[in-house]
Amino acid sequence: MSAFGFRLEAQDGRARAGRLETAHGPVETPVFMPVGTAGTVKAMLPESVKATGASIILGNTYHLMLRPGAERVAALGGLHRFMNWPGPILTDSGGFQVMSLAGLRKLDEDGVTFASHIDGAKVRLTPEGSTEIQDLLDATITMAFDECTEYPASHEAAARSMRLSMRWAERCRTAFRRREGYGQFGIVQGGTFEDLRGESVEALTAIDFEGYAIGGLAVGEGQPEMFRVLDFTAPALPADRPRYLMGVGKPDDLVGGVERGVDMFDCVAPTRSGRNGQAFTRRGTVNIRNSRHRDDPRPLDEACGCPACRDYSRAYLHHLVKAKEILAAMLLTWHNLHYYQELMRGMRAAILAGAFADFAAAFRRELAQGDI
Ligand code: GUN
Ligand code: ZN
Repeated sequence: MSAFGFRLEAQDGRARAGRLETAHGPVETPVFMPVGTAGTVKAMLPESVKATGASIILGNTYHLMLRPGAERVAALGGLHRFMNWPGPILTDSGGFQVMSLAGLRKLDEDGVTFASHIDGAKVRLTPEGSTEIQDLLDATITMAFDECTEYPASHEAAARSMRLSMRWAERCRTAFRRREGYGQFGIVQGGTFEDLRGESVEALTAIDFEGYAIGGLAVGEGQPEMFRVLDFTAPALPADRPRYLMGVGKPDDLVGGVERGVDMFDCVAPTRSGRNGQAFTRRGTVNIRNSRHRDDPRPLDEACGCPACRDYSRAYLHHLVKAKEILAAMLLTWHNLHYYQELMRGMRAAILAGAFADFAAAFRRELAQGDI
């Protein structure tokens, strides 16, 4: 088994190309991780996820601990075996999902008590508990248990929240069972404040994680504000460790994130939008429900090599969405994941060629043209 490691292969401006080595295989960065919340990337077979070019997927502590339960997954050989995804899996730690999904929540110094969104049962999550659950799931990358600071937050509130997350990060590191090829990432918080983000980076790098995530963004602040926070947060992180921007984003967020030194991303956008009839293309988003597609024999995107674009017309995809057919979700999810992976591949190739600025300019020019 290989050691967990990150190698920086090229840097172009602040944009980075690198390679993660893990117990479950390598990950070339910059990378987009499809979201497989409940042990499935919705509407996709794992081999199809792989066929889009994905190398690593995300799983959720919160969902899997409630159903089917981490002990059960462990007894069945771990999440990789359970869901038939042998590649790397990063699991989020649960705090963010508790705040967005659970009923009645109570936060204290030790952790969070909440009511399950499934049956209302009272459940407790702590830094130690979350770390143990991720170990039972056999997560390749374990995330620290944190509190995602709400937006907007005052300096005082953001400081209090971030410092709690930093105390939790220390407890998570102690609870983490170190294994060859497995890693644990700390999560930077601090709201929109430069001094607090700096203090958070200091606290986490002193603990020393295999990688660092930037949390508390894409929570309503908008892209300009998110980019402003990234402008001072990403460069403060150690250059020799992977950087992961949590819950981001739309294609132009990914380009702007890579431009600012981010290596890893995850977002429900391509999968959720796919189930809602929305497709991401080089020319922007296309809502295939729109009646303008009703008689259109052209593919969704002429330049795309995915099954939805290769074998079907806009008219047929429109019909499937209108008829609420399951195949609509399958094809559009496949297309969106394919588009996201193609975008990441393009960015990586451009960084390796020293041409990232040209790539970003061409991406923005094409996006601005709009769908025709
Ligand atoms: N997903 C999106 N943002 C966050 C965050 O701040 N923390 C965690 N744990 N997950 C996230
Ligand atoms: Zn396509």
